[in-house]
Amino acid sequence: MNIFAGVARIVHVSDLHQQVDWGRRSFFSTGWRGAPGRFELHGMGRLARFEGVQARLEQLVEELHAHAADHLVVTGDVSALGHEDEVGQVEELLRPLLSAGRMTVIPGNHDRYTDTPAARVFERIFAPWLTSDLPELAVDGPYPFVRLVGDSVALVGLDSTRVSGWSHYFVGRLGQRQLDAARAALAHPRLVGRTAFILSHHGPVGPSGRFDWIHSGLLDAAALLDLVKEHPAVLLHGHSHERFWHRADHQRPHLIGAGSSTEKGREGYWVVEFDDHRALEAHAYMPGRKRAR
Ligand SMILES: [Fe+2]
Ligand SMILES: [Fe+2]
Repeated sequence: MNIFAGVARIVHVSDLHQQVDWGRRSFFSTGWRGAPGRFELHGMGRLARFEGVQARLEQLVEELHAHAADHLVVTGDVSALGHEDEVGQVEELLRPLLSAGRMTVIPGNHDRYTDTPAARVFERIFAPWLTSDLPELAVDGPYPFVRLVGDSVALVGLDSTRVSGWSHYFVGRLGQRQLDAARAALAHPRLVGRTAFILSHHGPVGPSGRFDWIHSGLLDAAALLDLVKEHPAVLLHGHSHERFWHRADHQRPHLIGAGSSTEKGREGYWVVEFDDHRALEAHAYMPGRKRAR
């Protein structure tokens, strides 16, 4: 832990998009629910962009083990289609970090593509790691969950995939109940004096710093921004495969989008070093190399 040195460090990865051999599986094997996702994979080039993802994922995880981080965070889209084989493979790969209490993972929209509300594949497979230090605040399955890290950090994990049917292909939503519960978590006495990191797959803005449908798509983006502004908090998110950091200003806190950590040619992640929610520096890393910038 670096907390004793006055600076804490969080490693932020996202959008791993582990995929199985979809090229060899029938288009109909994923049913009507997975049809748009299969079209995106085969017809829009996503399968090729994540070709060989297993090897990049293994290299990434090996590198994550070596980081002297206080905690590691994965902000969703661990899989291409939310198939249990994909989600299971990622969980297995991350298990040593998860079981050591070094890592926190939330779901993304891709983790729902072939899922059903009854199956909740992500929650079933990651169940041992979705626990909360404030379980009484969970209002939607395990969300929001709170993890207290060391003496100075708190993580608030959200599920921004609360939309129905195929709309998760286009938009995300946290919902009022989850936002209210997250507000209660941030105001909780056990979080006083800690820097809170809010984890959401969808972020409130895109690379431009403004809302856009492709890179954000979060229907309650304004409410999430309000929530983060009111507290000593930093927002870590995924979904956009661009990697960007919007520094805190007088109107909003630090917003950090991890980008995809495994997309071919765009791999990377952030190492976030901070004294508190304002005094923060984020450094982009590429797997196998030192800082990218
Ligand atoms: Fe993604
Ligand atoms: Fe996404």
